[in-house]
Amino acid sequence: MALIEFKKLCKSYGSGDKKTVVCDNLDLSVEKGELVAIMGKSGCGKTTILNIIAGIDTYDSGEYYFDNSKVDIRTASEGVKFRRNRIGIILQHFALINDYTVYENVEIGLWESGVSRSEMKKRTLEMLDSLGIMDLKNKYPNQLSGGEKQRVAIGRAMVCKPMVLLADEPTGALDYETEAEIVELITKLNQETGTTTVIVTHDREVADKCSRTILLHKL
Ligand SMILES: Nc1ncnc2c1ncn2[C@@H]1O[C@H](COP(=O)(O)OP(=O)(O)O)[C@@H](O)[C@H]1O
Ligand SMILES: [Mg+2]
Repeated sequence: MALIEFKKLCKSYGSGDKKTVVCDNLDLSVEKGELVAIMGKSGCGKTTILNIIAGIDTYDSGEYYFDNSKVDIRTASEGVKFRRNRIGIILQHFALINDYTVYENVEIGLWESGVSRSEMKKRTLEMLDSLGIMDLKNKYPNQLSGGEKQRVAIGRAMVCKPMVLLADEPTGALDYETEAEIVELITKLNQETGTTTVIVTHDREVADKCSRTILLHKL
């Protein structure tokens, strides 16, 4: 069954001469448990689509269903509520908080989840363990390599056990070897936890590790 479904979705930015059409009657669906790559040229709308899935951005017309419920978010607080325990996001440039330790950066992913302090601690430690970064827990982001930072960002996204993991060019800032490690880790998490995963990438090799590729065209 589809967990994410767009039906004839339209999205544009601006108006008149400055109008940029990003989606024009886009149909897209992602099944529960799938590991899907979204590919396409720069500017074709990959980030916009992830943002719509996450309820960070709105769409103009058409329909978006998440787990068979219509999603139509109009305010930032509706977005926060929608994402809670549903959506985990990782970004290309990690977006870690430099004043927080690795442990604290992962724990942030539970702030909105409504779990108790003791449960937060238990889950954060479990997450650090499964990512192989327990020994880094008291370090700060500026003491980490790119691959380690991305592991922390994955931990922050996954610690709330979201239904969907969204990753926007998660290997874009990494060298070749580290990229392979991170893709392997995301694949492993998808298999072990069954978390539906959508990866935006412009790298064929990354897409080949996914079960399916959705190719977008620039309008
Ligand atoms: N907030 C915005 N305001 C105006 N135009 C935007 C905005 N966000 C994205 N765009 C435009 O929409 C198009 C798609 O952008 P984006 O989704 O970031 O593409 P991609 O991630 O595939 O590179 C681009 O032409 C971009 O300039
Ligand atoms: Mg982008």
